[in-house]
Amino acid sequence: MQHASIPVDPRFIVGRVDPRLFGSFVEHMGRCVYTGIYEPGHKQANASGFRDDVLALARELGVTIIRYPGGNFVSAYDWEDGIGPRENRPTRLDLAWRSTETNEVGLNEFVAWCRQADIEPMLVVNLGTRGIDAARTMVEYCNHPGGSYWSDLRREHGYPEPHGVKTWCLGNEMDAPWQIGHKTAHEYGRIALETAKAMRRVDPSIELVVAGSSNSKMPTFPEWEAVLLEHVYEQVDYLSLHNYCDVDAIGDLDSFLASSLSMDEFITTVIGTCDQLRSRVRSRKQLHLAFDEWNVWRQTHFHSQPREPWTKAPRLAEDTYDLADALVVGTLLITLLRHCARVRIACIAQLVNVIAPIKTEPGGATWRQTIFFPFAAIARHAKGTVLRIEPTTPVYDTAQFGPAPLLESIATHDEDAGEVTVFAVNRSRVDDLALAADLRALGPCQLIEHQVLTHPDIHATNDADEPGRVQPSTNSRSHVKDERLDAALPAQSWNVIRLRTDQP
Ligand code: AHR
Repeated sequence: MQHASIPVDPRFIVGRVDPRLFGSFVEHMGRCVYTGIYEPGHKQANASGFRDDVLALARELGVTIIRYPGGNFVSAYDWEDGIGPRENRPTRLDLAWRSTETNEVGLNEFVAWCRQADIEPMLVVNLGTRGIDAARTMVEYCNHPGGSYWSDLRREHGYPEPHGVKTWCLGNEMDAPWQIGHKTAHEYGRIALETAKAMRRVDPSIELVVAGSSNSKMPTFPEWEAVLLEHVYEQVDYLSLHNYCDVDAIGDLDSFLASSLSMDEFITTVIGTCDQLRSRVRSRKQLHLAFDEWNVWRQTHFHSQPREPWTKAPRLAEDTYDLADALVVGTLLITLLRHCARVRIACIAQLVNVIAPIKTEPGGATWRQTIFFPFAAIARHAKGTVLRIEPTTPVYDTAQFGPAPLLESIATHDEDAGEVTVFAVNRSRVDDLALAADLRALGPCQLIEHQVLTHPDIHATNDADEPGRVQPSTNSRSHVKDERLDAALPAQSWNVIRLRTDQP
């Protein structure tokens, strides 16, 4: 048994938890949309063709905001193809994933689905093959009340009220050579600036996300951010970051379990770049970050797979997640919370089937992947403020990061509910970790529950036949006494420890 400790003090505040940290992403890729959220004819489909079983799991997951419709897909997408009567919508070649896109689902259906699920839509405009014009007409179609060509068209299409979409992304991964319409930082900076101005003229209340580097390994990172922000700093509200953790790229399991260290470094570097640019352009505004694609993804494996081109909704990137992946997702969520003062939006990519916490079978069942559980727990319980805790923890050796902490943890204080929650991952594959939390600054506390996600086999997964193989259970080996929590964190585990406190 190893030992770790944390002080929990409600006066040491990192920032408030923005509920949009618990966002997700629905792209027209593989089976995320078709046979994912949408499958007319399925026995659980509602009158609009959307699957109620998937909708229920999206609600249970606690997703607050969803980015749509891509991703790489958006960079050759004509949004007008997805509006109006279905029988008139064209079938197109989707150049990003070399699939066939029928356009049965478009922005109206997506926004209606979001409203039904009580989720905020976040739309991406195409700055690959399109530009200012398509972006400003899309905002007019969505957000203008009426009395103009595009807003009246929306009304004609059966949506009399404006959609009121608040958050918009200026293209996707424009730094990447694989992007249709890939640009240099200067080219993108210019088009992003002019597009932002036109979109804001239509609706000054919108918030804009400009596309940062596709990942921290891009040869142009962080020069891309520096050049681009020089153009656009004053016109945007958020800079985006993307990051996928790939066990094959990282090389070994112990390093993979410590992947959040590189996400942490990535965020810190981007904050530094933003703040340097802020002084260079003499701005009074602080830029926030939107980590609008993050997850675990066996990308190396994905790119090595042969593909059948031009099929509708092929099985793409349907990673089956194991316990190790769930632990990494838990540490990534903790990292996002630790940076909540600057990271205000984050989207786990994606929602259903494609690198996703929710899986479906066409005409069949839906189930929760292992990564569903840390996300759902944190979306449900991380409320109020994030507390700065400085853990004392043993370390273990990793090939990629050198010594890495065994304990990854964070605490949140929900003043309204009178609750403090400690989220913790024990990265050790062999040893339990005895966690002692000093609660004196909180005063008298009671333990509400300690939920733990673990399994003797780190590669255990859930599937349609055994959907509950890996799921949370109650850990009854923890207790609070004399203003101190003693919790036993099993080897290779994700933990949620909830405390009732009298302190507001
Ligand atoms: O989420 C899958 C893909 O990963 C997205 O389309 C793209 O933006 C990223 O490279």
